[in-house]
Order: sequence, then C-alpha cells, then structure tokens
Amino acid sequence: MHRVYNFAAGPATLPEDVLREAAAEMLDYQGTGMSVMEMSHRSKPFEKIIGEAEQDLRDLIGIPEEYAVLFLQGGAWTQFAMAPMNLMHKGKADFVVTGSWAKHASKEAGKYGTVRVVASSEDKNFTYIPKLSRDMFDQDADYAYICGNNTIFGTQYHFVPDTGGLDLVADLSSCILSEPLDISKYALVFAGAQKNVGPAGVTLVIARKDLITDQVFKGTPTMLTYKTHLDGKSLFNTPPCYAIYICGKVFKHLKATGGLAAMQQRNQEKAALLYDTLDASALYKGTAQKDSRSLMNVTFVLNDPELDAAFLKGADAAGLSGLKGHRSVGGMRASIYNAMPKAGVQALVDYMRAFEQQEAKA
Ligand SMILES: Cc1ncc(COP(=O)(O)O)c(C=O)c1O
Repeated sequence: MHRVYNFAAGPATLPEDVLREAAAEMLDYQGTGMSVMEMSHRSKPFEKIIGEAEQDLRDLIGIPEEYAVLFLQGGAWTQFAMAPMNLMHKGKADFVVTGSWAKHASKEAGKYGTVRVVASSEDKNFTYIPKLSRDMFDQDADYAYICGNNTIFGTQYHFVPDTGGLDLVADLSSCILSEPLDISKYALVFAGAQKNVGPAGVTLVIARKDLITDQVFKGTPTMLTYKTHLDGKSLFNTPPCYAIYICGKVFKHLKATGGLAAMQQRNQEKAALLYDTLDASALYKGTAQKDSRSLMNVTFVLNDPELDAAFLKGADAAGLSGLKGHRSVGGMRASIYNAMPKAGVQALVDYMRAFEQQEAKA
C-alpha cells in the first residue's frame, strides 16, 4: 500500500486509524450484515451512530443544551445563504472581510438584506486580520460575521472579536476542532466537514436554539430553514449517513487522543516547525503577517516563481502531495489540519531545506 502526506486544503487527510476502522467495518457494520452506506437512516444502528456523534461533539467542545448541533448538507456555501435567510430579521449584518470566503459570504448575505463591511484586509491582499473593537459594530444589526480561518490566504483569528454583545456568526470550516472553542461567544458557527472533521458532504452547524425559529426570510425553502433540522434531529430527510458515521469516528479519535487542548498543542508544534523553517530561509517567504498566521493553512512563496514547478515536482516525488497554493493566489500552501501527523510536517520541512540547499548550489 502507498500513502502520501496529503497537504491538500480540503477534502483533506483523515486519521489513518479512522480509515482502517471504517475499512474493517465496510462490509459488515458491527454484525448488522451491511455497510453503514447501505443502512436506513431510520434504523436503530444509525440512530445510535448519529446520537453518539452529536454527544461526542458536545463533549469535545463543551456545547451546552441551549445550543443545537445540526448535521446538514450543501457545504459552507449553503450556510452563506442559510444564515442570513434565518437570522436577518431586521435586514442588516456587519461583515469582517478577511478573504475570499468572507467576501463570498457577504455577497450572498447581500441578497437578503444590507451588508456593511466593518473592516477588511483586502488593502494588503488579505495578509492579516484587522484590529476590531466593539464600537465598530452596529448594535442594531442582526449579527456580525467573521471567517475564523482564511484557508486561501493562511490567516486566522487568534481572538474572538468583541462585538459588544451583537450576535456573532462564524465560518469555522478550516479550523473547527483544531483548538478549544468557547461556543458561548458565538450565536452560530458552521463548518464544512471536509477539512478538519471528516468527508465532504456534511456541514456542521452549532447554533443558539433561541435563534432557530419559524421567522425566516420569505420564500426560504423548508430544507434551508434551521428549524426543520432542529425539529427533525438532523433526520428530517435522508442525511449524509456515511459522512456522519466517519465524523463520529473522528470525534471519538479526538476524545481518545486528549481532546481539543491536546490537539491545539500538537497543531502549534506542527505550525512552529514550518514557520520557523520559513523564517530561517532565504528562498521561502511566508505570506501572512506573523500575528495573523494560521495554524492550519501555511501559505508561502518561493523568491523565484520560476522554481515553483520544480519544487512541486520534487515534493510529489518525495510523497508530499497537494502543496500548490490556491489558484487565486499562487505560491504554495501546506494545509496541516488535525490529521496531518508531525512526521508529515517534518518530512516537508526536510524536503524544503534540501531543495533550498540544492538551489543554492545550482
Ligand atoms: C473557510 C471556508 N469557507 C467556505 C468554504 C466553502 O466550502 P464548501 O465547498 O463546503 O461550500 C471553504 C472551502 O474551501 C473554506 O475554506
């Protein structure tokens, strides 16, 4: 068998233990004589799978009863519309635009109300997280919105903005479960699973229950109404059963390996390895400002873009896959989500140093 270190931004690497367990259960899930892929979502075994997945996620983050946990479909993009359709009662939202995803979300929300951009880092190609203070937010808006980790630009909030009590909505697609999360500071968070949680096809939503009502934007489809899924316990219609099952295994794996504080520690160590290498190098340069650097997506450029192709080719040959930066920014991006082992980051750093030495001699 051949496995590579997969640095892709998502869908992304998953814990090998989880994949092995799923493989062992593929044809016969715990004596049921069928795969979870073939199983009714109304069956007892599946009810147990989704029930445990929710409880394990609640335990990991520490999510109180006042918050709903929903397993939805449609990816983060659907949440860009679903959040305003359900939450924009006065028709006003305050957005902090720190990258392409926040910008997409702001445009989508603009279809349902008035979006005000409170701050943006577009002036410096989204290389930093702007300073924010409570007086910047309109207390009469429905909510404030941030993207917690900017997958494309490699920047991340290392603080929760003080909105002065205004409800905060956050896209945590590329950082959820990478560190402890104080959910009480948020009204609603969402995350496509395919980066840090599980396979593509399921989207996590954690939201304060009092915000989930029948009062939604006129014409909102049943499927895009949070209440449908709260009332249906994420089983209103056929959910992405297999993806939820794998997420459940990832949650158990995280619990068994020390929870989110231990995960954060490992993520900090991995990121430090890579950023220290960038900072000590004459060839590579990190693109994000130091205080805004992401622990999950490490973006960098080579001082001579002519070398990009050779760098990527050599990386592939060394079993280091998925390092090409997002098409909108170029350069390189190493996504080092929870499931990327430290050995993978070490292998990348070793390759980067060897490539730099080779180029210095050439
Ligand atoms: C932060 C962030 N938000 C949203 C998206 C879009 O997610 P999806 O493809 O699940 O709609 C991505 C995807 O890469 C992302 O990184």
